[in-house]
Amino acid sequence: MSSLHFVVIFFNILHLVTPYLESDGWLNIELHHALDRHNPDKFTFRGNVSIPSLNIGIANVLQEPLNSEDREKLKDLAEHNQFYRLKSYVTFSDATKIDYLTSTKACALANAQLADLLWVSIDTSGSVLAITQTVSGSGNCQDLQVSSEDLENFNTHVIVKQMELAPVPDTTSFIQKLEREREARERGEVKDNRGFFAKYWMYIVPIGLLVLISGATSPDGGQGGGR
Ligand SMILES: *[C@@H]1O[C@H](CO)[C@@H](O)[C@H](O)[C@H]1NC(C)=O
Repeated sequence: MSSLHFVVIFFNILHLVTPYLESDGWLNIELHHALDRHNPDKFTFRGNVSIPSLNIGIANVLQEPLNSEDREKLKDLAEHNQFYRLKSYVTFSDATKIDYLTSTKACALANAQLADLLWVSIDTSGSVLAITQTVSGSGNCQDLQVSSEDLENFNTHVIVKQMELAPVPDTTSFIQKLEREREARERGEVKDNRGFFAKYWMYIVPIGLLVLISGATSPDGGQGGGR
């Protein structure tokens, strides 16, 4: 099992335990990439990804094979240690559109023979925070061992990842509170306003015990004394 498959399976399992969105939504993502080393701002259509339900998180990926011209351009990017840049135009269920840019080493993508992971990070309300591409191929461009025939078909897995914002412990203000209390104690400002029993229980309890014990033994002792 390749590491890529392991990652996909792992996150699919993880997905089952992520909390569900209260209002599910869908996404359409149109992928465009920049392959031309001499014209870096020219993005061409790569494919469409649709996610019918963010809660289920399964994507339909539709990508055309790269033609020979594009394969040569990608190989050229890789050989010159350039970045492969991917733009995702996202259309949401509420018809808003946002685009995201992500990039990877072109030689890593080439070494992975166009196998990549597309991470769709959403927040707890279902809004997209980022779309990130990762590839597992070697980013070492010296050992580029691919022919342009290997660069024909993208093999893309999509992972919908719900980011949870964990509560951050407020350590600073806790330490400041302790400091203020310590200073107040040193200035004698803190009044001991606990109840009488709470303050003196360590004296009251032994005295109470003594009274109990002597009370229990006094009928014998007292009468014995009067004999
Ligand atoms: C990709 O999706 C867009 C809408 O987002 C659509 O206009 C276009 O025809 C689709 N292309 C393919 C090849 O499915």
